[in-house]
Amino acid sequence: MHPLLPPGFVFGTSTAAYQIEGAVSEDGRGPSIWDTFCAEPGRIADGSSGEVACDHYHRFDEDVALMEGLGTQGYRFSISWPRIQPTGRGPANVAGLDFYDRLVDRLLAGGISPMATLYHWDLPQGLQDDGGWLNRDTIERFADYAAIVGERLADRVAHWVPVNEPNVVTLLGHGLGTHAPGRAMIFDALPVAHHLLLAHGRAAIALREAGATSIGCANNHAPIWPASDKDEDIGAAKLFDAIWNGMFLEGMLLGRYPNDLRPLLEHVVQPGDGATIRQPLDFYGVNYYNPMKVAAAPETAELPFEILDVIGYPTTDFGWPIVPDALREWLIMFRARYRAALPPIVITESGCSFDDVPDEHGVVDDQRRIDYLDAHLKAIATAIQRGVDIRGYYCWSLIDNFEWAEGYTQRFGLVHVDFESQARTPKKSYEWYRDVIAAQPQHE
Ligand code: NOJ
Repeated sequence: MHPLLPPGFVFGTSTAAYQIEGAVSEDGRGPSIWDTFCAEPGRIADGSSGEVACDHYHRFDEDVALMEGLGTQGYRFSISWPRIQPTGRGPANVAGLDFYDRLVDRLLAGGISPMATLYHWDLPQGLQDDGGWLNRDTIERFADYAAIVGERLADRVAHWVPVNEPNVVTLLGHGLGTHAPGRAMIFDALPVAHHLLLAHGRAAIALREAGATSIGCANNHAPIWPASDKDEDIGAAKLFDAIWNGMFLEGMLLGRYPNDLRPLLEHVVQPGDGATIRQPLDFYGVNYYNPMKVAAAPETAELPFEILDVIGYPTTDFGWPIVPDALREWLIMFRARYRAALPPIVITESGCSFDDVPDEHGVVDDQRRIDYLDAHLKAIATAIQRGVDIRGYYCWSLIDNFEWAEGYTQRFGLVHVDFESQARTPKKSYEWYRDVIAAQPQHE
């Protein structure tokens, strides 16, 4: 039995521009840091790129029809900044705006409420050439971009997310260098986080001025487990928790950083920054995948902590541990700690990678995805019963797509995509999700 969620709970799916659109040179789109990064040998597991991806740019009508078939009430997608401003600055590229205009109208015609992310990692290369997120000026450029998009779409897009997962951009993009722009700066990456948080705040202001009424975030949160009860492991886990979770949620909710991180950020924080970052949020979006285990690193290591495998749980084909209880516990603790400061929560991403492909009858039997989603929805239902205000669940992802440094080797979709033919095949999990949605009590 799947859980019953409260009336009005929104079910959706989630995607991002570079992961699905393709058409990277069409209608005036400029290059992004992901085009550049993918062209560097050895960066992407299968040597691929988002050049064609799911060809969603040309097939969005078919993809929205898939959403209609699911009965989802919401769809979270991202807008590609280099489609709107090919170099990241200057006047809008009208053809780029027109694409999202058509997409939004098609969604609304299908009864699906749009949630638009402004930055899902595809920074215009022109801005990277001037320092990207290490340069405070990029915040001004982002505010301009937000104003352009808001003016065109705020009359129809219900919900807005300025920046997707600023922690991943900071740590993978600039700390370790496994994502674009491929910088491995370790702790020197932290100014990127501060600038992304300021960008979030400035975009929220610009969107509100343009008439947007529901603005949130999509922060990746992972429960951080110390590897043992030794003091040094607990200390390492606490520091990593501040970097992965704390600085983003406390920045947005409280306008300040966890004490442990303040010395690391003193040189970049300017008077008034906290207030800019702490904009009123209409919802707090959580992207959840798995917990992480952290230990103190050996003294010779560059970093003070190391991330260990969480063992004793089943894993996805990505090797990520499946721990739905950790989501429930995290949500309950999150609410307990930030109670008054916390707006309603939306799960802006949740999902799993399993490599199931069509059998000889064209059936994709992804029972493991069904089990994963079912268990996570149950965890959410329990958290709601325990008093956490959670308003929606956006499954990552509608369709298999370009999984960043993993290329096309990890499939997160409810719908299988054959990247040769672009054929879409709904998996068993698609039918299951459709039935779960149909069985829920709807809006009063
Ligand atoms: C979160 C990111 O927002 C999304 O782009 C990615 O595909 C999923 N995690 C899965 O790794």
